Amino acid sequence: MMSRLRLLPSLLGAQAARLLATPRVQVSSCRRRSSEPPAASPGSRGGGVSSYMEEMYFAWLEDPQSVHKSWDSFFRRASEEASPGPTQSSSPSVVPESRALGSGRTKTSKLVEDHLAVQSLIRAYQIRGHHVAQLDPLGILDADLDSFVPSDLITTIDKLAFYDLRESDLDKEFQLPTTTFIGGSESTLSLREIIRRLESTYCQHVGLEFMFINDAEQCQWIRQKFETPGVMRFSSEEKRTLLARLVRSMRFEDFLARKWSSEKRFGLEGCEVMIPALKTIIDKSSEMGIENVILGMPHRGRLNVLANVIRKDLEQIFCQFDPKLEAADEGSGDVKYHLGMYHERINRVTNRNIALSLVANPSHLEAVDPVVQGKTKAEQFYRGDAQGRKVMSILVHGDAAFAGQGVVYETFHLSDLPSYTTNGTVHVVVNNQIGFTTDPRMARSSPYPTDVARVVNAPIFHVNADDPEAVIYVCSVAAEWRNTFNKDVVVDLVCYRRRGHNEMDEPMFTQPLMYKQIHRQVPVLKKYADKLIAEGTVTLQEFEEEIAKYDRICEEAYGRSKDKKILHIKHWLDSPWPGFFNVDGEPKSMTCPATGVPEDVLTHIGGVASSVPLEDFTIHTGLSRILRGRADMTRKRTADWALAEYMAFGSLLKEGIHVRLSGQDVERGTFSHRHHVLHDQEVDRRTCVPMNHLWPDQAPYTVCNSSLSEYGVLGFELGYAMASPNALVLWEAQFGDFHNTAQCIIDQFVSTGQAKWVRHNGIVLLLPHGMEGMGPEHSSARPERFLQMSNDDSDAYPVFSKDFEVSQLYDCNWIVANCSTPASYFHVLRRQILLPFRKPLIIFTPKSLLRHPDAKSSFDQMVSGTSFQRVIPEDGAAARAPGQVRRLIFCTGKVYYDLVKERSGRGLEEQVAITRLEQISPFPFDLIKQEAERYPGAELVWCQEEHKNMGYYDYISPRFMTILGRTRPICYFRIWDWPGHASHGWDRKCSGLQQARV
Ligand SMILES: *[C@@H]1O[C@H](CO)[C@@H](O)[C@H](O)[C@H]1NC(C)=O
Repeated sequence: MMSRLRLLPSLLGAQAARLLATPRVQVSSCRRRSSEPPAASPGSRGGGVSSYMEEMYFAWLEDPQSVHKSWDSFFRRASEEASPGPTQSSSPSVVPESRALGSGRTKTSKLVEDHLAVQSLIRAYQIRGHHVAQLDPLGILDADLDSFVPSDLITTIDKLAFYDLRESDLDKEFQLPTTTFIGGSESTLSLREIIRRLESTYCQHVGLEFMFINDAEQCQWIRQKFETPGVMRFSSEEKRTLLARLVRSMRFEDFLARKWSSEKRFGLEGCEVMIPALKTIIDKSSEMGIENVILGMPHRGRLNVLANVIRKDLEQIFCQFDPKLEAADEGSGDVKYHLGMYHERINRVTNRNIALSLVANPSHLEAVDPVVQGKTKAEQFYRGDAQGRKVMSILVHGDAAFAGQGVVYETFHLSDLPSYTTNGTVHVVVNNQIGFTTDPRMARSSPYPTDVARVVNAPIFHVNADDPEAVIYVCSVAAEWRNTFNKDVVVDLVCYRRRGHNEMDEPMFTQPLMYKQIHRQVPVLKKYADKLIAEGTVTLQEFEEEIAKYDRICEEAYGRSKDKKILHIKHWLDSPWPGFFNVDGEPKSMTCPATGVPEDVLTHIGGVASSVPLEDFTIHTGLSRILRGRADMTRKRTADWALAEYMAFGSLLKEGIHVRLSGQDVERGTFSHRHHVLHDQEVDRRTCVPMNHLWPDQAPYTVCNSSLSEYGVLGFELGYAMASPNALVLWEAQFGDFHNTAQCIIDQFVSTGQAKWVRHNGIVLLLPHGMEGMGPEHSSARPERFLQMSNDDSDAYPVFSKDFEVSQLYDCNWIVANCSTPASYFHVLRRQILLPFRKPLIIFTPKSLLRHPDAKSSFDQMVSGTSFQRVIPEDGAAARAPGQVRRLIFCTGKVYYDLVKERSGRGLEEQVAITRLEQISPFPFDLIKQEAERYPGAELVWCQEEHKNMGYYDYISPRFMTILGRTRPICYFRIWDWPGHASHGWDRKCSGLQQARV
C-alpha cells in the first residue's frame, strides 16, 4: 500500500498537498478509514476539495467499491499513469472545474514552487524531525510512543514525491532560506546535501522540539546551535574528560555493587551519562557566571551525583551502608537517598568557586521541585541577584513522574511569575522508559513524558543517552539557553534501567522483552571507550589506568569509612545556617526574649499603615475609609487584626528580618482586611507597598499574590524559608480548607522534615478557619489533622523546668496556634523569629474576628515587656472569687467572644470562668494545670464550634487527663449545634458525658 500511497501528492498537486493538515493527520485519517466507512458527502470536512479528494482516495485504497464509479475510474487511471507530477486526468465532476488540478505551469513558477518545496521540507525537519530521531538506545520503543514515521520524512523518494520534487532535483542547487543554518557560510546547497544535513541534525541521536515556541529569535538561536555544520565536534581533550567522567560514574555504581551486592542502591546503571551531563551543565553555567547551583532530584542515581557531581567525601557516603546502623539511626535505611547536602568547591574546569546544594527530598517524586525553586529564589534574593545571573536551579526528573505528577505542572507555572521566577531552570529527565514496573504506554497520554514543559514554551531536547557526545552537546546548549534567555529548558535523556526498580527487584516479571535487550546491551562506557580507542584519542592502557585510578580512590575511601565514626547527620544539610546554631548544632540558648516592642515603633507603623507614602497617588475611597480607621485606632492606642499583623511584620523589618507573605490574594487579603498593596485608581498597574516605606534601613518586605496552586506555592515558600533563618516566610491559604491540596508538602516536609533530615524550618501557615460565613465549604482548616500530627506525648507527665515553654517548643515538630486577640497574633509571629531555633508554625486565622468590635488589642498588650501568652486566663469577676466558680470553660479562638456574650446574657459572670488556649500544640500543660487548680470546685468544659470528631477536642482531652488525673475530666460542649441554637451546648449537663469519657 505504501507505493500506492505515494500517488496521493501527485494526484493532489504539491501545493494542495502542502495545504493539507500535517502528513501525520493524513495517515491517521487513513487509519481511521479502516474502522469507519468513508464519509459520503463532499466537503464534509473542513479541508475542502483536497481533503475531500484525500478521503475518497483513502477510501478507494481500502476498497475501490466503496467510492462512486467515477472516482474509481479516476484513481485507476491516475495510478496507471503513475508518473509523479501533475496528472492530466481530470477528476470527476463533483470537483469544481476551476479547482481541478493539472493546469500547466511555466518554468518560473516551477522554479518558485521547487524552492518553496525545499523550504517546506526544511521546515518539516525542524518541526517533526524528532519523530524520526533514533532516541531509544535499546532500539525497541519509540520515544514518542509512536512508530509512525511522517510520510514526508521517510526516505528520499517519498520525500521528493511528497514535495513534488524529482530525483533529478537532488543535484540541483537551492537557495537556503534565512531560517536555516545548515549551509554554514554557504547560501546555496544541493538538495541532496540539504537532506543529508537536515537528517544529521534532526534525525540522529538528538530530537529537537522547539518549533512550537512563538518567539522567532529563540527559534533562530536553537537552529543556529544545532544546524551549523560541525557544532558537535569535540577536541580530544574534551573527549578524554568525558570518558573520565563516564569512568567515575560507571565505576562508582560498580563499586557499590561489589561491596553491597545485597543492598538497594537505586543505581544509575543505564543512565551513567547523567553524571557528565550534569557536570557539563554546571561547568557551562559556571563559565557564564553562575556561583551557586541548587539541585533537586529523586533517589535514582543520587549517591552517584553526591559523589561525582557535588563531590561529597566518598567515606561519608560509604559509611551509611554500615551494617551496624540501626533502622532508627540517623542516615540509616533509605534515608541516604533522601538527605540534603551542601558543598562549596572550586570548579576544576572554570577555576571558579561554586556552591552546590542538593535539597533533601521525600520519596514523593517531584514534590521537591517547588521547594528547590523557592530555595533558589531565596538565595537569589539574599545575594541581590535579581536577574538570576549567579544562582540557578537544576531539576532532575524521572519520565513517569514528570508526566504523571501534577506538581510538575504547578511548578512550571511559577517559572515566569515575577515573585516566583528563578530566571530559568534546566530540567533533566532520566527517561528510562519505565516507571517501577509500568510501561510508558500505560503511564501517559502524551507522546513524550516531557510535553508538560510545552505550556511555558520551554524547548525540549531529547537525546539518546548512549551517545555521550550528543548528550554533552545538548547539555551545554541547555545551559547556554538558560543563561541567554533566562527561561526553562528540558533535556530528555532517553536511556534504560539496567536492573529492576532497585537492585533486588526482578524486572523480567513484567518487562521480559525489554530486559532481554538490556542484558545484551553493551554499557555506554565500553561503547564510548571502544570508539575513542578506535579513533586513537586514548589508548586501551590509558583507559584501564583511569579505571584503576578511580577504583583505588573508592577503595581508600572505603577503608577510611570503616576506620572512624564519621557518620554525622550534620554533614547532610542542604542549607547550613552559619552562625545561627552553636558549633555542635545546638541552639545558642533555651530562652526566648520578650516579644513586645517600644510604643513609638507601634505608633510609627500605625502611621505608615494608615497613609499613602507616594505623592499624587489616588486610592479607592473605600480604602481611604479603612486607612482613616487605622489612623483612628493608632491614635486610640489599639490595633485590630490587620493592624497587629502590620505591626508584627513592620517591627521585624525594622530589626533586619526579611518578611515574605505569599499565597492566593494575600496582597489584599481574602477578606479584604489587609491591603498591603495600594493601587492607584488613575494609573494602571501603579502600586505602592507602604510596608516598604517604614524606615530607610529596614529589611525588604515581599507580599505576592500567587498562582492558584497550593502544592506548588507552599512547597516554594518552604524552600524559601529553608535558605535563611533570618526571615519570616508565610504562606496563607485563601481559605484554610485549601491546604489539603498541599497535603504532600505538609506531611512529607513540614511535619516531618526535621526528624528526617535534621532540617529546621520556620515557615508559617496562615489558615483562615471558622464555621461561620461560607457554609460547609471553606469552613474548616481541619485543626484536628494538624493536631493529630503533633508529636508531643499526650500521656507523659511533663517535667516543669524553668525553660519549659522553650524546651517544649524545641522538642516539638511544629507549633499549632489559634489566637483570640490581635496582640496574641502579633506576639506569636514575632516569637517565631525571636526563638533560638526554627519550627513550622500553623496558625488558624479568624474571619469574623477581623472586624469584630471586641477583637481589638490595646498597645499595652504589645509594648516592650509583653510576650506571647500561650494561655489567656479568665480575668473577670469569676477570677476574683474562684471559689464560687461552678464551671471553667476552656476554648480557643473566636468562640471565646460568643461564650462571653452568652455568659453575660445569662448573668453568670461569677459562676463561669472562661480561659483561652492561644497555643494548642505543644500543649501548655503547666498553665492548664495552674488554671484548673485555681478553680477547684468547677466542672471543666471544653467548648468548640467544630463537631466532636473535629477541631481540638480529641487532642486536648487526653492531655487534660494526664495533667489533672481522672477525677477531673473535661467534657465536650459545642457552642452551637445548629445555626440559631446558640444555647444548646450551654445547657447540657456535663455529668453524663463525663461517665462516657472516663
Ligand atoms: C529575571 O526575573 C525578573 C523577575 O521577573 C525579571 O525582572 C528579570 O528581567 C529577569 N531577568 C532576565 C535576565 O530575564
